[in-house]
Amino acid sequence: MSAPLKKIICVVGARPNFMKIAPVMDAFKQLYPALDVLLLHTGQHYDANMNAQFFEQLSIPEPDIDLEVGSGSHAVQTAEVMLRFEPVLDKEQPDAIIVVGDVNSTISCALVAVKKDIPVIHIEAGLRSYDRKMPEEINRVLTDQISDRLYTTEKLAKQNLAKEGIPAERVYFAGNVMIDTLKKNAEKAVPFTDTLKHYDIKEALTANNYSLLTMHRPSNVDNKEILETLLKTIRKTSKIIPVVFPVHPRTQGKIKKFGLDEYLEDKNIHTLPPLGYRQLVGLMMNAKVVMTDSGGIQEETTALGIPCITLRENTERPITVEQGTNTIVGVDPELIYSTFEDVIKTGGKAGKQPELWDGHAAKRIVTDLVNWLFPLLSGAR
Ligand code: UD1
Repeated sequence: MSAPLKKIICVVGARPNFMKIAPVMDAFKQLYPALDVLLLHTGQHYDANMNAQFFEQLSIPEPDIDLEVGSGSHAVQTAEVMLRFEPVLDKEQPDAIIVVGDVNSTISCALVAVKKDIPVIHIEAGLRSYDRKMPEEINRVLTDQISDRLYTTEKLAKQNLAKEGIPAERVYFAGNVMIDTLKKNAEKAVPFTDTLKHYDIKEALTANNYSLLTMHRPSNVDNKEILETLLKTIRKTSKIIPVVFPVHPRTQGKIKKFGLDEYLEDKNIHTLPPLGYRQLVGLMMNAKVVMTDSGGIQEETTALGIPCITLRENTERPITVEQGTNTIVGVDPELIYSTFEDVIKTGGKAGKQPELWDGHAAKRIVTDLVNWLFPLLSGAR
């Protein structure tokens, strides 16, 4: 009788997970085609422009399982994923699950698996903002605590994990899977002019002559005063160069709820719906500067060498500041504006490529993982 097929479930839930799982699924297919690798989508993000267009553009296979949880409070969303994930594990009996990043789906699935004694693999482990008010920080700390094998994107992460008592032998510095996706897709990026023409934005059609803004953190957009200050400051920067602003549904909702639409009704501010991966990368590559509160964009701008101004008080990705093009400014309007002016005058920080952000992280992860999880299988490959 032949041994049963080895099975791994890869979990995704929200937009930033998709670009992280794509190269991992691909590496499994290339290096270990005999493994049964399933893709499970929790359904945390479900709008076509937050979800389906990423699957299409990144050639991610259709999920084998969709939990369809949708939106809700953190407790509801986490609990729903857990409730719906448990029977999947009972039925599929995987040898391990892989979770990526720091969203609610990451911790929910990790927690269900660990209590069933199923190994949990965490990709993008050990990042710390040391800001426990950030929901993602809670998700990171807890997921790392219950993970059996942890893959890191920068060296400092291992030290963060050591401080929390995680043994060094569980941790493997593999590089950044999101940069694998960026490198693979940079050439296929949609020209920024096509995107801007599509949305009838004529004022920003020259490369290096607009800023790109993204903003969705609860700490920035859920508080009326902070959101208003940010929008006012953004409007001030738009007098220097136009702003292109794809608006996250959370932010859209809050702007409406707080009655702040007037700040966006300006000929130099151009709002768009959330964009596809290739559209956003195209806009990023040709921006004079990017202003953001996203984690992933801090890394992508460093990899592309585009100046980034981060509208947060801290970052869990310090390498983007120490070695990359990132400057952390928080929400102080004067600091945001003066940093912006400085980037316009000087061109911003030059930055360099962080170690192992080379486009091959997923292959290193998959090779190490199979070695660790199925030593016999890896020998027989
Ligand atoms: C989540 C992640 C965050 C990540 C972000 C990227 C957590 C705790 N946060 O935040 O780390 O940076 O995704 O987008 O997991 N909504 C829609 N359509 C959708 C999804 C959401 O309209 O497809 C709206 C809903 O009103 C929802 C709100 O956006 O309540 C927030 O969605 P949610 O998934 O809770 O968190 P994000 O802010 O997207």
